[in-house]
Amino acid sequence: MTSSARKLFVTTALPYANGNFHIGHIMEYIQADIWVRYQRMQGHAVNFVGADDTHGAPIMIAAEKAGVTPQEFVANIAAGRKQYLDGFHISFDNWHSTDAPENHELARQIYRDLRDRADGSLIEVRTIEQFFDPEKNMFLPDRYIKGECPKCHAKDQYGDNCEVCGTVYAPTDLINPFSALSGAKPELKNSEHFFFKLSDPRCVEFLEKWTQDGKLQPEVANKIKEWFTVRTNPDGTTSEGLGDWDISRDAPYFGIEIPDAPGKYFYVWLDAPVGYLASLKNWFDKGGPKARHGDTRSFDDYMAAADTEQYHFIGKDIVTFHTLFWPAMLHFSGRKTPDNVFVHGFLTVNNGEKMSKSRGTGLDPLKYLSLGMNAEWLRYYLAAKLSARNEDIDFNAEDFMLRVNSDLIGKYVNIASRCAKFINEKFGGKLSGTLASELPDNIRAAFPAPKATEEVGNRGPINPLLKAALVANEIQALYEAREYGKAIRSVSELLDTCNEYIDIHAPWVLAKQEGAEERLLGVCTVALNVFRIATLCLKPVLPATSKAVETFLNIPELEWKDASTELPAGHQIAAYGHLMKRVTADQLEALFEPPAPATPAPAATETVAAPGGEELAPTIGIDDFTKIDLRIALIVNCEPVEGSTKLLRLTLDVGEGRTRNVFSGIASAYKPEDLVGKHTVMVANLAPRKMKFGISEGMVLAASHGDEKANPGIYVLNPWPGALPGMRVR
Ligand code: 2FM
Ligand code: ZN
Repeated sequence: MTSSARKLFVTTALPYANGNFHIGHIMEYIQADIWVRYQRMQGHAVNFVGADDTHGAPIMIAAEKAGVTPQEFVANIAAGRKQYLDGFHISFDNWHSTDAPENHELARQIYRDLRDRADGSLIEVRTIEQFFDPEKNMFLPDRYIKGECPKCHAKDQYGDNCEVCGTVYAPTDLINPFSALSGAKPELKNSEHFFFKLSDPRCVEFLEKWTQDGKLQPEVANKIKEWFTVRTNPDGTTSEGLGDWDISRDAPYFGIEIPDAPGKYFYVWLDAPVGYLASLKNWFDKGGPKARHGDTRSFDDYMAAADTEQYHFIGKDIVTFHTLFWPAMLHFSGRKTPDNVFVHGFLTVNNGEKMSKSRGTGLDPLKYLSLGMNAEWLRYYLAAKLSARNEDIDFNAEDFMLRVNSDLIGKYVNIASRCAKFINEKFGGKLSGTLASELPDNIRAAFPAPKATEEVGNRGPINPLLKAALVANEIQALYEAREYGKAIRSVSELLDTCNEYIDIHAPWVLAKQEGAEERLLGVCTVALNVFRIATLCLKPVLPATSKAVETFLNIPELEWKDASTELPAGHQIAAYGHLMKRVTADQLEALFEPPAPATPAPAATETVAAPGGEELAPTIGIDDFTKIDLRIALIVNCEPVEGSTKLLRLTLDVGEGRTRNVFSGIASAYKPEDLVGKHTVMVANLAPRKMKFGISEGMVLAASHGDEKANPGIYVLNPWPGALPGMRVR
């Protein structure tokens, strides 16, 4: 590590350890990895770390369902990470866990530092009222309380907002609330909670400055500005300024116990970002920075050093945690704050759904790899689309194919395959004995023929070596600023220039001409020099391909400083092996093919933990059942719903002398014309529900698997022939 080398500590958001990576994670990792690899090529000392975000109620509950301890559960998820990270060439230096001892220690220390501040504690204990599940014996997070929407009376809505009418409310506003875990009626109970006093003037003043000093992306900083003036409360009302942050949860909770508060745990978002530090500390304690950069300092010294730069790559959905809570935690516990937080948008697939954390459908990263698709196609494609802005990008299959086959292979790989053959076959693999830059003008440059309409000489010579030097220089700032799309465009122009140069000289013609050997050797030497610089420029994006090129060109690992050098005179290259295949339409089709139909039912003797992918609901009595009035309905009419891809509008006859209008989320499974004239079963005494598209007067029964992603399919119930509209089902 030279003294001028920057010391960079870089992270990506820590993924929840309750599921495999989806393409949204991979996109973020690729974005950060390109930046990190670029910095390493500059000779900077980077520590790039990640970890699993292991704590919180959802993971605890998922573990319980799976019949394992939370520790076993997250270890199982962690074991699956490597295949993705290696598969997409993500070069983390260390991967750790927020449940590791380092994180317990650091989170507790940061908390103590906030609590014990000499100028007045920033932690306050308050008693709050919360729903408690008497069967599970635990306080219920909002997402685990369900009930009837107080506004539109839709049943089965979550405790924080109604999915039917969109109203935001507090769980206590729900009508007939019940625990989504046990079905029990929750009780209101008092509990002491710990708050981080973000509304304290010290915090407000610090955060206004920290978020508005110009380091953040302008669109991010502007959004944050609003939070200082207005905030939305759990009940949907708004208040002024930053609110205090509830950082504690009651046992049972999978998390880190709060010092001096038995039975109280840090809310997962308190210890999650501390996991960045824990992973770095673990990396230091293992001697990683010493071995990699000769950095013999301790973790504490490294973190305290003025020239250590800290950067976090995150998605736009977790900005609050990283630009308010996290810097405040660090600053007021006496630590340095991040130098920047780089926010990216979501990835959509084929103009479809957003690839947020909760909805990892569409493009399965492991399927991508298992189809033999090259990770570097995806890295290149995403790089070509990424900018420094917090905006969504779309993965489009046709566009992907075009960029990979036409740009990456047609323009880049092609240069090597076009020239290496002649060098190897005709010159024993040896480049020209004259440096490319010292070759005669008529070889080093190309002179395009004037077009009929142009005056002779109105277009200057094409000089790809000069252009390569310019591009390699100019794209440094683009990589630094995460403007990868612009960098790729710039390299693409260089490749166009080089290909035009080759086309004009036409080495395949020279190869057949007597006396043209010197020119043939010179032209191929120039082209391979340009190819070397283009490889250098693309190396942060295409690490494996670059490695193969380094082998083929028989050169040491390319670093950015090599951009000002050229291949030595008479340099010997190795045999050319194919660098990259084209993507095929079949591969893309297979990638987006829906998963195979549901797995066959297990043999009758096997015990099934969760039939149909879902635990049985708690037992009810016959009285409860008879409250539900199920009737045979005739589907008189059925039509698509404009503005909804999910819903169909059904006109049902239940023998009442009138018809009912019912919306049903079955558009993915049925065409309207398939249903008209059929009988089905409906819940006939469900309170009418006002939906975005009109009032729904009941519900049609349909079967689906609990894990819709693995086992897609919706099956509307259809009675045996003979059942008539209005007959009760019991
Ligand atoms: O939103 C998420 O997926 C969180 N697990 C991100 C945590 S980032 C950091 F704070 F750990
Ligand atoms: Zn509602």
